[in-house]
Amino acid sequence: MLLLPQPYTSPREYAQALASAVNSPIFKTLTVEIHHLDLFTSLKPWEKLPLDWQAWFDEECESLQELEGKMRDVRSLGRGSGLIGRPDSLTELLELCRTLPLPREYVRKKEEEESSPLPKSVLVGMSGKKELEVRRFRDIAFELSSRRGLRKAVDIGAGQGYLSRTLSLTTSSSQTQPSSPASSLQLLAIDASSTQILGSQTFGSKPSSSPSAITYLVQKIEGAHSASKEIETWLGPNEEEEGLIIGLHACGKLTDDTIGMFLRNGRLKGLVVVGCCYHHLRSGTGEGCFPTSKVFKDLGVEWSSTAQMAGVQNVTSWEEGAGSEPTSEEVVRRREERRKGARLRTHHRRLLTPLLSHPFLPPTPHVLPLGSLPSSSSPTFRSYALSALTKLNLLASLSTDQTETVLLEADRLEEEFAEDWRWEGKGRVIENLVKILGGLVESTIAMDRYLFLKEQEEVKKVDLVVGWEYEVSPRNLVLVAEKW
Ligand SMILES: C[S@@+](CC[C@H](N)C(=O)[O-])C[C@H]1O[C@@H](n2cnc3c(N)ncnc32)[C@H](O)[C@@H]1O
Repeated sequence: MLLLPQPYTSPREYAQALASAVNSPIFKTLTVEIHHLDLFTSLKPWEKLPLDWQAWFDEECESLQELEGKMRDVRSLGRGSGLIGRPDSLTELLELCRTLPLPREYVRKKEEEESSPLPKSVLVGMSGKKELEVRRFRDIAFELSSRRGLRKAVDIGAGQGYLSRTLSLTTSSSQTQPSSPASSLQLLAIDASSTQILGSQTFGSKPSSSPSAITYLVQKIEGAHSASKEIETWLGPNEEEEGLIIGLHACGKLTDDTIGMFLRNGRLKGLVVVGCCYHHLRSGTGEGCFPTSKVFKDLGVEWSSTAQMAGVQNVTSWEEGAGSEPTSEEVVRRREERRKGARLRTHHRRLLTPLLSHPFLPPTPHVLPLGSLPSSSSPTFRSYALSALTKLNLLASLSTDQTETVLLEADRLEEEFAEDWRWEGKGRVIENLVKILGGLVESTIAMDRYLFLKEQEEVKKVDLVVGWEYEVSPRNLVLVAEKW
């Protein structure tokens, strides 16, 4: 059952509260006007923060440790004590980020203690995290399929096939109703990546499994009409044979396309889908573009790619070294070295932004597909810049002299903005202020999809449930729907 945070009782009223939060001037300032990667550019993101926030972070901070105390307070959404003088507007934002997102705690069911573990043949290759997701997802899918008498499921973005295999090889995990266990399903496993499908088939061909229950299809899903013929053929000529469409961590727009395929195909009666990678959402005005619901469209919700990125934050992993106690001096020393290395790489990445506007370099896209660079690209910014520009293929058309001029500019930037805890602090404050908005963003996306489904006449029932423990796997909001 959809659980809303206090004091909301209706999804619409809750959507309005989310919309006014993400449309608020401070949300826009933090996600549109400023970005930590612009720290050394003329955009001067630090100076766009409210003046009293700048002063509070700057004041009496003589070291990164002191500043870290304030940032920790921001990350834990203002629960710290002894933080005198925190601006009221910052306190209000922290309070909003703590109280407005959808509740994410998994409520353990009683019968689950008796739930049967997955058999060894199915567990092959799965991490503990994946096993938990797949087992809980199975319970939800089986509840729906057995209630509606469905025997087939289309798994979108099936990846290595963990979910497909689980659904095809196991029966209901609940032992409280042993008289009517849900039967296993026949699967159509679809993925855009042939490597993933090949991996899935390799696991599926183990002697103890039954590969015939799974049909594999390499196909890129690009909209609600995708794979319609293949699905129809696979469902078979008997029009009464109906099925489910499912997706576990269907990246970005793939979740919207899965929803669209569910609505478009009259024989797909059930939907179970979990989203992830919100930075890959489709933006614009067409089908499957955020926001998809009339409610959020009417409320004029729109946001930047920075806001979408915030949606994929996992608040439990913000603390550097969180969750592991130091065991020896050697461990502490190595951890400190890793932190220093990470800080230096971030400093260099921020320096790269102004360098990219050098007149000799070709223009680059707004979202830079840089990825990680070899550790040999440190320790100087010159070596980092050379490595990054080469990877981005920006030096190919430059003469040797022009390349050297660009690298001289890199030396100059490194000298002007020498690595220093104050720069580091400012960059991290900006980064953290955006990260704290993640819960609002993810809740807005989940509610938008929920409301979109609610708006469709052919949809009988919609639910949004917490599928498993956030601490183990943070993308845990499961959207479930049924058609008449
Ligand atoms: C995050 S993985 C999840 C895999 C699997 N469902 C699981 O939970 O283990 C997402 C999968 O979706 C696939 N994928 C991404 N975009 C796709 C698209 N447009 N069409 C089909 N598959 C896609 C990727 O290749 C990847 O295997």
